[in-house]
Amino acid sequence: MRRKMLSSAASLSVLFAALLLPAGVAASSRVELVNNGYENLVVGISPSLPESEGATLIPIIKDAIKKASEVLFTATRSRAFFRDVRIVIPKSWSNTDTDEVAVFESFKESELRIDNPNPVYENQPYTRQPGECGDPGEFIHMTPAYLKEQVYSYYYGPPAKVLVMEWARLRWGVYDEIGYSGDPKYPIFFSLPREVADGRTDVQNQVVYQVNVCTDTYLNGKERMWFDESMRCTYTHEGLPDGDCVFFPDANQTATSSLMSFPLVFSDTLVEFCDDHTHNSLAKTKQNDRCDGQSVWEVMLQHSDFKGNANPAISQAEEPNIKVVRETDADYVLVLDYSGSMSTADRMVKLQLAAQRWLLHEVPLYSSVAIVRFDSTASLLAPLTKIVGETERKSLANQIHTNNNGGTSIGAGLKMAVELLEGRSDKNVFLITDGEENEAPMIADVMDEIISKKLCVSTLALGGNAAKDLEKLGDLTKCPSFTVNDNDVSNALENAFEGVSTRQQSVSLEESFIKIEETPKIQTPTPEYEGSFFVDSTVGMNLTFRLKTDAKSHVLSGPSLIKPDGTTLKGAADFDDIGNVWTIVVPEAEEGAWHWKVTLSQDSSKYIQATVLALPRDPNDAPIVTTVKFLAPATGVSPKDQNIKIMATVMKGNSPIRGADVVAYVTPPDISVSAQEYELLDNGVGADAVSGDGIYSRYMTKFAGEGRYSIKALVKGGSSASVNNGPPPPPTYPSAGRRRRRSTDLDIKPKPCCGSVVPYDPDTAAPTGNFTRVASGSSLKVIDPPAPDEDILAPCRVPDLQVAELYGLDEGGSILTLIWTSPGDDHDEGTVSDYTFRLSEVRPDLSNKGFDEAPPSTLLHFEREALNQSGVLVPFGSSVAFNVTYKGAFTFGTEYLVALKAKDEAGNGSPVSNVASFFLDQKLDLPSWADELIKTIKKSNAEFFSQS
Ligand SMILES: *[C@@H]1O[C@H](CO)[C@@H](O)[C@H](O)[C@H]1NC(C)=O
Ligand SMILES: *[C@@H]1O[C@H](CO)[C@@H](O)[C@H](O)[C@H]1NC(C)=O
Ligand SMILES: *[C@@H]1O[C@H](CO)[C@@H](O)[C@H](O)[C@H]1NC(C)=O
Ligand SMILES: *[C@@H]1O[C@H](CO)[C@@H](O)[C@H](O)[C@H]1NC(C)=O
Ligand SMILES: *[C@@H]1O[C@H](CO)[C@@H](O)[C@H](O)[C@H]1NC(C)=O
Repeated sequence: MRRKMLSSAASLSVLFAALLLPAGVAASSRVELVNNGYENLVVGISPSLPESEGATLIPIIKDAIKKASEVLFTATRSRAFFRDVRIVIPKSWSNTDTDEVAVFESFKESELRIDNPNPVYENQPYTRQPGECGDPGEFIHMTPAYLKEQVYSYYYGPPAKVLVMEWARLRWGVYDEIGYSGDPKYPIFFSLPREVADGRTDVQNQVVYQVNVCTDTYLNGKERMWFDESMRCTYTHEGLPDGDCVFFPDANQTATSSLMSFPLVFSDTLVEFCDDHTHNSLAKTKQNDRCDGQSVWEVMLQHSDFKGNANPAISQAEEPNIKVVRETDADYVLVLDYSGSMSTADRMVKLQLAAQRWLLHEVPLYSSVAIVRFDSTASLLAPLTKIVGETERKSLANQIHTNNNGGTSIGAGLKMAVELLEGRSDKNVFLITDGEENEAPMIADVMDEIISKKLCVSTLALGGNAAKDLEKLGDLTKCPSFTVNDNDVSNALENAFEGVSTRQQSVSLEESFIKIEETPKIQTPTPEYEGSFFVDSTVGMNLTFRLKTDAKSHVLSGPSLIKPDGTTLKGAADFDDIGNVWTIVVPEAEEGAWHWKVTLSQDSSKYIQATVLALPRDPNDAPIVTTVKFLAPATGVSPKDQNIKIMATVMKGNSPIRGADVVAYVTPPDISVSAQEYELLDNGVGADAVSGDGIYSRYMTKFAGEGRYSIKALVKGGSSASVNNGPPPPPTYPSAGRRRRRSTDLDIKPKPCCGSVVPYDPDTAAPTGNFTRVASGSSLKVIDPPAPDEDILAPCRVPDLQVAELYGLDEGGSILTLIWTSPGDDHDEGTVSDYTFRLSEVRPDLSNKGFDEAPPSTLLHFEREALNQSGVLVPFGSSVAFNVTYKGAFTFGTEYLVALKAKDEAGNGSPVSNVASFFLDQKLDLPSWADELIKTIKKSNAEFFSQS
């Protein structure tokens, strides 16, 4: 069967001005668009891949980038191409030819990651996009099989086109313009009113649906089962394709857009994005849903790459310059503040201990470290020293003393670091300071040199008064900024040091230590202290237990470990008398609950603090790993201008973990306020973009003063946590065996990535058992926070409004039952106090720009008292249902759009919800008793097709 599908409903497409979206989230990416060419783009090859892959992969990657650059140039209407790209290979690939040594490039921070498959999406390329429309994504993931084996291009599209499509998502924060099979929100097909379809030559008269895409003209193709291209679809009795049916476009098309719909069309014409002329704002695509009905092109034009006619069209693109670089051992220069103010609150003593512990236990073998001190001037405590064993660690640690005094010239310290790193490759500076600069040279005086020499400057602010330019250093060099309070008990100082040395270090699983436990600093007058931790099935090799104290005399007898079976581990702990750390290493730790015990001096002014790390139990089985961060620029953000998200990932390798308990602790700058707790959720509402993707999120809603906030997350898994090992297998149809099962023969099951839900099969999901993880992230500078009594945070957007039921009335209109998930008063916290609902036939009435000014006739009515009593005004995250009345008359064959806005008691309005839609279908056989209750409404969204 060959049929023409109409996609762009030209008669309904509308022109409206671009909406200003919230300022973008700063990416950690170094990519810049300079004179139409993208520079500093990094393709990272995972250290988990064998070196033997390199010889095949590297030429393929180069070729794909060259071709992608041409596609990009066409798609951006001659405004952008890839100028300068580095392929960074693992440190261990010593037999692969390279052009240069890596300077800033690393797999962990690369834009395009070549890595083993994510079991959920298998070999399908995808982009992780936890932000909002217009926000940059985190990275693009492609697998070696996808790049090497042509057959995958048949299902997912050729690498050159797919790379540009993924680039659009990563760089400009746009989304797919195609549905996903079985997706409840973004279906493959959506129905349209029969009356609209009637008389249209492009729609066969027995069908009333269209492919969910954005194109400028009809597409030729066929409807087939998603798992077998040779199997015809099955249809409902109304002639609509069922949930397993997808659209396979023909290879040759005349359409030119949209690349976001069909990268898999080989036809050279299909390389454009939809703009406001070709865009179909009524398609049920993720792009329309997440970007307020705007076209991809409109969203792109709001990005700094193109805004205000930046990078106008040029006549010809340059050929990309692609270099292969190898990761290398890092060089670190510690730049330590020795000014007078460092005596405050024992800062000097704490810094000494933390730096020594880092040198003795954390800094990776074969890296080189130098130490610089500064007050009014800078001096060298230790030249760059390569760490090859205990001797270097100890001698470096011994150089750190506590004789501080004088003024603060941060620039002097940085200048010395720049000189020390001259001619080196991976150049890292860790600057720790507590004060305002008061003597030249200043940070600003060395900034240009630092940037031009591609240094990475991580900064740590001790106390609340550190120099204002600190974060700027981190932000301009794309390196983290940390902050530690004077009364911190959470181990933040040590965490910052760890963050600096593990930031871009890409090591194979055999060498990746995972933190499974970290206690706060424990101060207790009791003579005995006992703690416990859990060793799960994914970790356990080289288990390393560390107990730290500020005074050796406080610990009367060193720590001992008790195994899950109750026996005490033999042998004494190692003691490091510079850093005051006891270490016990267990070569292979049994799974289960472990205990540790220590006898103390009863002096509660002293502390103990325990940390447990372990390597993966089996290097071929990825362990569970957690990260946490603020999704906002580190340089500073005002909650009045921009929403701040907190985001943690919980993954086993690339597989999402569902059902974990994730709590983020945010320490505010005001030292009289204790850490603020946030329960992070992976439910697809509020701050969370997609349910079940292993990314747990929440909005930051609590503020305690202007300044730097630090973050840490504790993750726990119990009986309800499981690893998503992929989607359910294709259904078995009796006839399938006889047919040519192209996809299953090759074990390709095109999985729909990145729709509204993550494919999941409870039968193959593996329970995680008990596990714990601890992670910390870099800090966030909050500027101009709301006063404690000031309510400026608006309710978050409702993403899941649906029209559930329609009741016709004789007079006074019709009743619509709407269902949605309740937003919060402050984003996703608390309870909203009011709603506005609108119904319109045109999309602009329900855009963020048009909603408040839409005609009064679009208002849906309800009694205020009914709202109060409906159970709808409930805290964030509950499913609610409410009846509203439409006073106008519905006509058959018209598509109606419904949306809502929530309000808090201070009058802050949420963004407009998703747009739900429905229409009445005259040709449906309604039983006569249903005259009054027009029950069978056709929702042209979603569920209509998902039979699940
Ligand atoms: C696509 O079009 C080209 C040129 O018109 C033609 O050579 C080729 O056979 C067509 N391919 C298919 C699969 O129809
Ligand atoms: C793990 O411990 C073994 C000895 O038990 C040691 O040889 C190896 O280097 C350790 N691995 C790492 C990554 O530290
Ligand atoms: C997992 O943890 C729970 C609660 O902490 C405990 O009751 C249970 O026994 C633990 N399971 C295992 C296998 O240790
Ligand atoms: C509904 O509740 C709000 C807030 O509690 C109150 O101000 C308002 O008067 C109530 N309205 C009605 C009609 O009950
Ligand atoms: C909406 O109205 C219908 C008809 O009066 C009623 O049966 C239903 O329970 C109402 N639903 C809600 C959520 O109030």
